[in-house]
This record gives sequence, structure tokens and C-alpha cells, in this order.
Amino acid sequence: MRVFISRDMASVALGADDVARAFAQAGCEVVRTGSRGLFSIEPLVEVDTDAGRIGFGPVGPDDVAAVLEGSHASRLGPVAELPFFAGQQRFTFARCGVIDPLSLTDYAAQDGWVGLEKARAQAPQAVVDTVKGSGLRGRGGAGFPTGIKWQTVLDAPADEKFIVSNADEGDSGTFADRMLMEGDPFCLIEGMAIAAHAVGARHGYIYIRSEYPFCIATMRAAIEASAHIVAPFTLEVREGAGAYVCGEETALLDSIEGKRGQVRAKPPLPALQGLFGQPTVINNVLSLAAVPFILSEGAEAYAAVGFGRSRGTMPVQLAGNVKHGGLYEIGFGITLGELVNEIGGGTASGRPVRAVQVGGPLGAYFPPGMFHLPFDYEAFAQAGGLIGHAGITVFDDSVDMAHMARFAMEFCAAESCGKCTPCRIGSTRGVEIMDRIIAQRPGGEEKKDPGLRWDDGGLGKALYSRSPSRIDVSIEGQTALLRDLADTMKYGSLCALGGFTPYPVLSALDYFPEDFGAPAPIKEAAE
Ligand code: NAI
Ligand code: SF4
Repeated sequence: MRVFISRDMASVALGADDVARAFAQAGCEVVRTGSRGLFSIEPLVEVDTDAGRIGFGPVGPDDVAAVLEGSHASRLGPVAELPFFAGQQRFTFARCGVIDPLSLTDYAAQDGWVGLEKARAQAPQAVVDTVKGSGLRGRGGAGFPTGIKWQTVLDAPADEKFIVSNADEGDSGTFADRMLMEGDPFCLIEGMAIAAHAVGARHGYIYIRSEYPFCIATMRAAIEASAHIVAPFTLEVREGAGAYVCGEETALLDSIEGKRGQVRAKPPLPALQGLFGQPTVINNVLSLAAVPFILSEGAEAYAAVGFGRSRGTMPVQLAGNVKHGGLYEIGFGITLGELVNEIGGGTASGRPVRAVQVGGPLGAYFPPGMFHLPFDYEAFAQAGGLIGHAGITVFDDSVDMAHMARFAMEFCAAESCGKCTPCRIGSTRGVEIMDRIIAQRPGGEEKKDPGLRWDDGGLGKALYSRSPSRIDVSIEGQTALLRDLADTMKYGSLCALGGFTPYPVLSALDYFPEDFGAPAPIKEAAE
């Protein structure tokens, strides 16, 4: 009997290794796959039958006999037919959870390398035109058109060019890059090889955060196994060292060069002077992994799906206090409410949803009153937020939004590379302001967090005592100061870390003023 069990890091954390061992001991042929991406059914076991694969999940090591008899209570039937999967449009994640990630035979049998073959049969400019025509935009968060970035590198005269995959997936609540690399690593390699052909690069780097050890091992093994296919293009993995800012493209390039990861001023753009000063395509994992589909199925097939200027699909990641956490790949345009309530099933705690943060720690918090927002780069930007890397973190009504705003400032202070003043100093001042607001709001509380601390005897007090008439220490005055500081950080920071920290802070302040000691907005009552 053949069974399929995920070896994705999340599945293993939920016990998949023990389950796999138990099935192997019972004499089964165990194929380790990536995860299908719905974690409430992991560890998932799919049994190969005449009627196709039948899923059971979650399964424990003691359930082997009942699963093999087909009588186990967790019987799910064909997994692809479950509502969570049936509604998806899996362009990028089609093979994830289905194939053995390191089997070249499996990959080729599921249309692997078709995109690369088609690309290599065309001139580089034709490949760039196809990517442009697909409307693909940078999936790391900024949404810059991928084809235009590639055109810049193609047009840059140089003897040496590089392809860099940004796999420093640092946003809280995101795991799509990791899932793709652990579940279908050849897809990323194929996308990078297509990019190399398109711009004339010979070597590529995959920069993976050190917190992803399974992913690093899988990518290294996949690079070795496919070297003869992508040659003369060569690839290597570089391991990060735990700095969030190394997800910023120029800090990442510095880190690969062996320097401390610090943000470079732009221009020059990496497309013109990137790694080792050479023209460099630096794209997020998901941008590169979307390319094999675009080349094999055509730009029109990809562009046919989407909303406005956001074309194609986005692998949305549902996390936090949500019933059905996981990865849901769908065309842009689905609303935030559909994602959270219908697909995510609301909160895991069963309490009402109060807020969702979209786009990682630098993303805005939205209340249910904003659930009509379509998943689209422009719609989110207009609403004062960003879709970022498409991570959605759900909070129930027990969340304290003032503490979440404080966390945003504290995160920025901890992760700041220190190069520019608005971020380096502003974030620490922001934590201090938040502490004063929290202490002064009705029923004010002492801060429990042992981290960064506003000290009455420090600079703050000296400042106030020197110029008491100019500084308003009331809660209203502190809130105004916080807005002023947010403005300075937003417009004065060199990169997105300092520049986007105001998004969670200001959205918390705007949508949840009652947590900052102000009256609740009227619109809340209407919801
Ligand atoms: P950006 O808007 O400065 O640049 C976007 C990309 O386009 C860059 O690669 C840039 O080099 C390139 N580019 C811009 N103009 C170009 C041109 N004329 N020709 C060729 N290439 C050009 O944004 P940035 O600072 O790279 O990224 C900010 C985003 O990162 C934010 O939107 C945020 O959502 C996201 N982010 C993602 C994280 C993650 O874990 N994935 C973590 C933190 C932030
Ligand atoms: Fe460094 Fe922060 Fe300035 Fe970015 S905004 S360059 S992380 S100090």
C-alpha cells in the first residue's frame, strides 16, 4: 500500500514524522510530499487506492490500522475536492502536496520544465515580453511589474549578471515561500533558470532565512539534482542570519556579499548595479515561481485571472486566531471578508473577529467594517494599507490594539538597521509614546512587557521639565505626537521597515481609537 505524508516543516511540527514512521513499520510505501496547505488536517495521510488518493486527517501514529481499513473517523475523501481546495486557482502551488518534492520524474510528469523549454526556444526579449504581458507584479509586497524589472536588467550592458531569489520570508504569519520551496523546489529553480535566459545571467543565489532549515536542505538537494537540466546556469543557497531587514533587497545583497546587511540608498537600482555591482534580477520566491506557469500556459492564461491591475493569482496565507489556517491560492479580487470568514472560518476561539492585519508586521489593521476590500494592490493602498506578501493575521475581540501599535514600534526598534534617524530613533520614541498612552488611558495599566521601557527619569522627563509649555503630555497630546512621529517615519525613512511601521500604528489609532483612550467611532456601532 502506498501512502503520501507531508514532510513540510509545519506538518512535521504537528507530528507527521511519527505518523510516517508508523506507516512504514506497518509495511507501507511512504512517499513524503510537501503540504497541501490546510494545517487543521495535518498530519494528513493520503492512501493510494483504485479510486485515487483518499485523505485522512489529522492522523496519529496509532491510527494506522483504521486508516488502512478505510474506517478511520478522520476520513476526508479526495483532498482536492474539499471546499478549501476546490475553490482555489492553483497556478503556482499546483504540485505542492501532490508530488515528491525531490523527484525529477514526478516534476516532469506534472508539466515540469515545460516553461523552461519554451523559454529557451525563444529570444530573451520574447521571454521578457511574455512576462510583461502576464501582468505579473512583485509578490514580495511592492507589486512592481516583474517584466519591467527584467527588461531593465536585459538592457543593462554587463559581462556578468545575477538572478537572486529573495527567500528571507520575514513577515509574521507568512509561509508561502517556505511551503513552495519545501514542496516544489524545482518550480523555483525553473523560474530562476527562465529569468537567467531572459536577461543573460549565468549564476543565481537563493537567500533563505536560517529559521528555515528544512527549506535550506531541500533547496540544496534540488539544486544538485537538477544541475544538469538548468546548466549552464548555476545556483547556490545563501543562508541568512536572522535579521528582518535582510529581506530588504539591498541589505540582502550586502549580506550575500559577506557584509553586514544594511540598506543601500537607491538609486542605483539593483537592476542596474546590484550584486557585486552588476545588473541583478532580485525577485521574491513567489514571483519567480509564477514564471514557469506563465511560460508554459501563456501570458494570457495568467492575465485572464485577477482584478484591475493586479493580474494572476496570489497565494494568501491565513494565520493567527483563525479556524482554517493555511495557504489559499486565488485570483486577486476576492474580498477580505470572504478570506477571513468563509475560507478561514472566522476565529479559532469562536469569538468575534475584531481585527485583521494584512501584509505582515508593517501592514495595516482592518476592522470587519473594511471586509468589503478586494484583494488588490491599489485597493489596499487606497485604504491606507498594503497586501504585502499576502499574510493575513486574525485577532478576536480580546485583542488590545494599543498594545499591537506598541508592538509595531518595538518590532521596528529591534529590527532597525540603524542607518537612518527616523527609523532608528523614531521607533524607540514611538515605544515610549505608546507606553505613556497605555498608562494614561482610562483604567490605565502598567506595561507588562519587559522589553524597551520608557523611564521616567530619562531623556523624556528632562525634555518635559525643560520645556513644559511646548510639550503636551495629556493623552490627546501624546496621540498628536504619535501621528507627527508616524509622518516623519513614513516620509523620512530610507526603506520600508521605518517607512511602513506607521501603517499598523495609524490604522490601529484610526479604526480602534477606544483602545487609545478616545471614544469609539460611530461606524463601529453600525456594524
Ligand atoms: P520598491 O517599491 O522600492 O521597489 C520594488 C522593486 O522594484 C524593487 O526590486 C526595486 O529595485 C524595483 N524597481 C523599482 N523601480 C524600478 C525600475 N525603474 N526598474 C527596475 N526595477 C525597479 O519597494 P521595496 O523597498 O523593494 O519593497 C517594499 C515592499 O516590501 C513593501 O511593499 C512591503 O510590503 C514588502 N515587504 C515584504 C516583506 C516580506 O517578508 N516579503 C517584509 C517587509 C516588507
Ligand atoms: Fe535601516 Fe530603518 Fe533606515 Fe530601513 S528605515 S534603512 S531599516 S534605519
